[in-house]
Amino acid sequence: MDNIYGVILGAGEGTRMKSCLPKVLHKVCGKELIFHVTDCMKTAVKMQKLVVVVGSGSDLVIKCLDKYQVDYVFQKERLGSAHALLCAKDKLKNLNGQLIVMCGDTPLVQSKTIKDLLKYHVKNKNSATVLSGIIKNPFGYGRIVRDTRGKVICIVEEKSATEQEKQIKEINSGIYCFDLKVLWKALSKVDNKNNKKEYYLTDVIAILNKDGYKTDAVALTNEEEILGVNTRAQLAVADKILRDRKNNELMASGVTVINPETTYIDADVVIGQDTIIKPNTYIEANTKIGRNCIIGPDTTVKDSIIADNVFITNSYVESSKIEKGVNVGPFAHLRPGSVLKENVKVGNFSEVKKSVVGYGSKVNHLSYIGDATVGKNVNIGAGTITCNYDGKNKFQTIIKDDVFVGSNVNLVAPVHIGSKVLIAAGSTITDSVSSNKLVIARERQIVKERKRVK
Ligand code: UD1
Ligand code: CA
Repeated sequence: MDNIYGVILGAGEGTRMKSCLPKVLHKVCGKELIFHVTDCMKTAVKMQKLVVVVGSGSDLVIKCLDKYQVDYVFQKERLGSAHALLCAKDKLKNLNGQLIVMCGDTPLVQSKTIKDLLKYHVKNKNSATVLSGIIKNPFGYGRIVRDTRGKVICIVEEKSATEQEKQIKEINSGIYCFDLKVLWKALSKVDNKNNKKEYYLTDVIAILNKDGYKTDAVALTNEEEILGVNTRAQLAVADKILRDRKNNELMASGVTVINPETTYIDADVVIGQDTIIKPNTYIEANTKIGRNCIIGPDTTVKDSIIADNVFITNSYVESSKIEKGVNVGPFAHLRPGSVLKENVKVGNFSEVKKSVVGYGSKVNHLSYIGDATVGKNVNIGAGTITCNYDGKNKFQTIIKDDVFVGSNVNLVAPVHIGSKVLIAAGSTITDSVSSNKLVIARERQIVKERKRVK
């Protein structure tokens, strides 16, 4: 389909969230509400242009939209949803085609629903098509009013509805398709003569209808998709639904999720076939995990790239890159900028930060490796620490291939250890060491006679 445009209304105040953060930036399933909606639209159909209407005080929203290169317009005063849509007119005027309008607070709508709505709208040559839903408790929603032949004639808001209209169970989802040829003129006719003194977008249906244009509504089959997030409680409901969807999607694609109830996987995470996710595990942001991995239990992996055949147990991994065959944990912490090359082991109570650990190297027990480059097949003995910080600045530690670092060694950076060096246990290394040396830097043991004790 050609000439499809999109507008997302997101300038509402979100007062019921009781938050300093704009509503559309609250996250469900690890992603801002607004980006669930933009992604839904983009997946549904190829659009010529997508514009988000943002409100005052939403510098944060603009910053976020800029980051993802989503276009926006600013609604200075919040005069209602019709006024919000009019604000986008400058970006869309003199265009022919169809416009999809969604709200920024409906993260559960699925792209197939939007695709089907647009198809129906175009096929029937409607001027406006509303996505509706038939729900048990329609309180608070705009009601779809049909005439005796079933033709949609208007939408009436809860506050303006008569007792009889309040009985209507078919509600407005806040999602619409409009023919751009007739939309702007109809929108300009909307007034604010209602109890809220707002310009209601929903009034456009009656206006188009009166002017002889074809207006229609199609009802959703899955009513949970319509849920709008207005409160923190609804935020939690939406989060739960999206996380269940994500787990089910992954399981359908060949990932084992042992206990979906305690597994929290963000919307944009990718996981390969035959990977097993054990309970109490959080996989967040843009993490990508390969095939045949075992992740968890009690593990967080955030914004990281994990290759195939990796095991991570009881550990915390953030902004790191892990190559295939690596073993992490139990109880390891990989901080941002860690790169573990193939077959590395980082184990019990070890921490790695902004460091590369080379092929086959081991950091098995109680170590801190920070601002370091560790070569291949290096053994880092238990309790080894890179002393990378002097209170003001950070310094680098370089350890070349096949070095053996004994237990409880301090490497005072900046320091360079050549290949095949052996560092004796308990050494504090302050000077660089060239290849193939044995280095001992500690007090010699002395043994004295014991004083007589009673
Ligand atoms: C709206 C619909 C209602 C529908 C419901 C579905 C109207 C008048 N009513 O009601 O029929 O059943 O959604 O959830 O549209 N917005 C702006 N600027 C404004 C006002 C609103 O951008 O000046 C945006 C809001 O951010 C929101 C959307 O428009 O995304 C809808 O506004 P909201 O106040 O949430 O309307 P509802 O009362 O939920
Ligand atoms: Ca709403």
